[in-house]
Amino acid sequence: MTHPAPVPPFQIRALNADPDTLNQLCTLIIQTVANGESVSFMHPLAPADAEAFWAGSLAAAHRGERVVLGAWQAEQLIGTVTLLLDFPPNQPHRAEIAKMMTRLGHRGKGIATALLREAEGLAGQRGRTLLVLDTATDGGAAGLYEKLGYTLAGEIPDFALKPHGGLTGTLLYWKRLEQV
Ligand SMILES: CC(C)(COP(=O)(O)OP(=O)(O)OC[C@H]1O[C@@H](n2cnc3c(N)ncnc32)[C@H](O)[C@@H]1OP(=O)(O)O)[C@@H](O)C(=O)NCCC(=O)NCCS
Repeated sequence: MTHPAPVPPFQIRALNADPDTLNQLCTLIIQTVANGESVSFMHPLAPADAEAFWAGSLAAAHRGERVVLGAWQAEQLIGTVTLLLDFPPNQPHRAEIAKMMTRLGHRGKGIATALLREAEGLAGQRGRTLLVLDTATDGGAAGLYEKLGYTLAGEIPDFALKPHGGLTGTLLYWKRLEQV
């Protein structure tokens, strides 16, 4: 009987805007987009546009409006997810999951699951009790979210362009968190 190869250890931590982290985040999102996966951008994603996006995101994290988490294996960033916290005054209990990506070659090893669980824990610590997210109908990660207990609210057809062109719908998911 064959056993799955053991997963080398990885650490998850909140990311800051240091040059190496920024550079690795840019590589990750450029590769993800080139692979045809929907994370808001079209292929080819110019390095300057990737950098502008992540610099803005990490600046928002510095202001406490979001948390950008990274999974590290030694010095390599192998995955990321963002927890959005900046919502209107009538939604203080809500947070959103965004920009979930695992580096190609490191997929299927529980990296995204660990990142998502960490993000859920942080959301709970901040008193957030309702999480929402969306994922592309075509090539998105619905299976991952359903495995982790997210409920499908519905689908919006023809919501966005895929990185290499052609429209895809989006699937909207939600999950209630236990109050901590
Ligand atoms: C989606 C993504 C982050 C998953 O990363 P990962 O680290 O491989 O995920 P995990 O190893 O934690 O997967 C956990 C489970 O979810 C399932 N899953 C993972 N990705 C999936 C996908 N794209 N579609 C359906 N199910 C998926 C797996 O089957 C796995 O179940 P198993 O343990 O029974 O095999 C990765 O495929 C990715 O970076 N995709 C491109 C970017 C993207 O589409 N992000 C989602 C934007 S909303």
